[in-house]
Amino acid sequence: MDGRDLVRSVRVVGSRKAAQGLRTVRAAWRRKRIDAAGLPPRGAERARVPGPVQDAEPGPGGGVIRFSRSELRITVAVNGAVFWGWDGAGPEPSYALAGRCPEPDPRAVLEPDTNGGWRVVAERVTVSVSRHGAVEVCTPGGVMLRRDLPPRWWEPVGGGAARWVQRSEVAADARFFGLGGRASGPRLRDGTYRLWNTDPGHAFGSGDDPLYITMPVQLVVADAAAHLVFHDSSWDGTVTLLEGEEGAGSGHDRAGRCELRMEGGPLRCWVMAGTPARVLHTWASLTGAPALPPAWALGHHHARWGFGSEQEVRRIVAGYQEHGLPLDAVHLDIDHYDDHQVFTVDHERFPKLPTLAEELRRDGIRLVSIVDPAVKAEQGNTVYDSGTAVDAFVRDPSGRTVEGVVWPGETVFPDFTDARVRAWWGGLYEERLALGFAGFWHDMNEPTSFSAFGESTLPRSARHALEGRGGDHREAHNVYALCMARAAYEGLRGLAPGERPFLFSRSGWAGMQRYGGTWSGDVATGWPGLRASLSLVLGLGLCGVPYSGPDVGGFDGSPSPELFLRWFQLGAYLPLFRTHASMRAGRREPWEFGSEVLEHARVALLERRRLLPYFMTLAQLARRTGAPYVRPVWWGAPEDRALRDCEDAFLLGDALLVAPVLDPGTDRRAVQLPRGRWYDTATEQAYEGPGQVLVDAPPARIPVLARAGAVLPVRDEDGGTGLEVWAPARGRTGGGLVVPDAGDGWGEPEIERYVARWEGRRVVVRREDENGVREPSRPVRVRGLG
Ligand code: GLC
Repeated sequence: MDGRDLVRSVRVVGSRKAAQGLRTVRAAWRRKRIDAAGLPPRGAERARVPGPVQDAEPGPGGGVIRFSRSELRITVAVNGAVFWGWDGAGPEPSYALAGRCPEPDPRAVLEPDTNGGWRVVAERVTVSVSRHGAVEVCTPGGVMLRRDLPPRWWEPVGGGAARWVQRSEVAADARFFGLGGRASGPRLRDGTYRLWNTDPGHAFGSGDDPLYITMPVQLVVADAAAHLVFHDSSWDGTVTLLEGEEGAGSGHDRAGRCELRMEGGPLRCWVMAGTPARVLHTWASLTGAPALPPAWALGHHHARWGFGSEQEVRRIVAGYQEHGLPLDAVHLDIDHYDDHQVFTVDHERFPKLPTLAEELRRDGIRLVSIVDPAVKAEQGNTVYDSGTAVDAFVRDPSGRTVEGVVWPGETVFPDFTDARVRAWWGGLYEERLALGFAGFWHDMNEPTSFSAFGESTLPRSARHALEGRGGDHREAHNVYALCMARAAYEGLRGLAPGERPFLFSRSGWAGMQRYGGTWSGDVATGWPGLRASLSLVLGLGLCGVPYSGPDVGGFDGSPSPELFLRWFQLGAYLPLFRTHASMRAGRREPWEFGSEVLEHARVALLERRRLLPYFMTLAQLARRTGAPYVRPVWWGAPEDRALRDCEDAFLLGDALLVAPVLDPGTDRRAVQLPRGRWYDTATEQAYEGPGQVLVDAPPARIPVLARAGAVLPVRDEDGGTGLEVWAPARGRTGGGLVVPDAGDGWGEPEIERYVARWEGRRVVVRREDENGVREPSRPVRVRGLG
């Protein structure tokens, strides 16, 4: 580009920016006008509580309890989850549930309680309902897990959606987690958290809330048990949390509190209790198994907004190759589109995309395409034309198509809550597959529509099909991205039936794991952003979404070499390991930060590659059990309070404990260990938990500890899979699972179960299953014999 070109393009960009600015002002006014006419005005309301109990009618798994002004339906499902719904609400319809609602457990019976109320005794919990409609969930031993006070509704006198509030109490020692992706967690401190999927509009830090994925899902961890509570309403709302306080043996404990306020939707919830593993298993059986990524998606991805051309993509890939850095996927952002229009290609700058894809694939690198939901509102745009032909776009209450503003300018928005529209949209991925793309990155689907003021999304009165029930954006907003993911997933299943769809989405809701994963969104470059990255991954995992990861290095600005390296080292142990950055951000290629960073980044990449069979096993286990790959350190010992408050380390499956460096200038850090022996995997030094230890964290690596007895699959030099075994403590045994995976496709691999034990002075590993005990057919390497 010569000087004159530069001046011209700056002018073009400048005038485009001005035009876009003007559009966002117009869009903001438009949205305001539409809602002024289309939303019911907030007039007089009538408050209501359930009133005193009248009678009850037992039914399968529970029954219906009638109060003077409401009724409560309780059902214990066969998977152990308890459902209750007020005002006759049942579990369906629901966007969170996977297919059909589980059958009621016939053993759970509704019976009168001694205090005039009713109760249901089930295998894992007892649910008592007081005379005024307080619902208490206790362990089989009688310890209270949560008490939901009688709810209160405010009903518009002229009819319409009722607002409601549900106040609850939990144990004084309880800690709150979840609520979707929260930057300030994973432990959710006292405060109010909003339930409205939101693009913060800038690179976010730990103080930004809400973000792209909110969910009315809380995981509450207390001495007595963990429980997950899910209030199945997709409407806007807030959750206010207040941790309890223990009176240090004085008997004056103050319970933890939670107040949920919703703008509408049914007042219904699911509760499941037990160990964290049990709870997540039940949650997955309710909302669906996490989609299994293809093996390549567990490798390293490099993305950037603004590659700008095929040459630049080739340059980056060559850089990886020249420096001996493994690379598995390259992501193309909106700059490869023709004028930012979804499902198009800028043929000038990307003239031979299929050839590029083909060449990359030969080197084991897949291409991933960004997909934005907003379609440029312009005749001649084929997506706009075909969408218009099938009446795909969201309309306002007066029947006019809603126009918003996104990257391509004036845009319209598919209504993904309509099965017909999903089918049309799902078919559009054919064009992407033909171009050679192997995976999809859903963005801007909160949905975001730029706005000079007010909310950057669609008008609240915008109409949606909601599977034929009909409703507006107040109800559809939070499930918009979930439904978009469904459209893509189902489309891809039809278009490429032999392949596992790879898809991750910025926004979503409870159940999104059925279709794919997510990523941090635009996390701010800085040490707080690094910490927020871990918070998001842990919190989402506890909401049932196990596959996610941050923009390594942060989305904006330029990380220092040290920050970049520490981010990279953390990313290497997270399910989605992807470097990505904004158009205006500094470089993110490992070789741009000096030879020392390059060397250490290579070590992290090679270690990730070595651990791939372990990641694949974790992905397979997540699908089968709902357990996230990345788990809080308290996962196996929620009663250990020091672990419950530990937020700066995590378990990667059962075998590894990863202690990332989250602060500058660190070369040693404290690590809170769960019970048992742990080995520093770099030095093989053994430490005994529970307790805190200091371990080395030189620039070359972050501390990773292996649990004594762990057996995990690792990739050998020759590409095969061997077993890495960490010596059990003397007198103890160990073990681990391996799920061999073909890399893609729908085959059901057999799970290999290994047991490690001492025999004399040796540690031996055997494969054990119903067919007996065998020598492993895989090479074994025992470590930690020191
Ligand atoms: C949004 C995404 C980001 C992407 C950009 C341009 O900010 O979060 O990842 O690079 O849009 O598409």
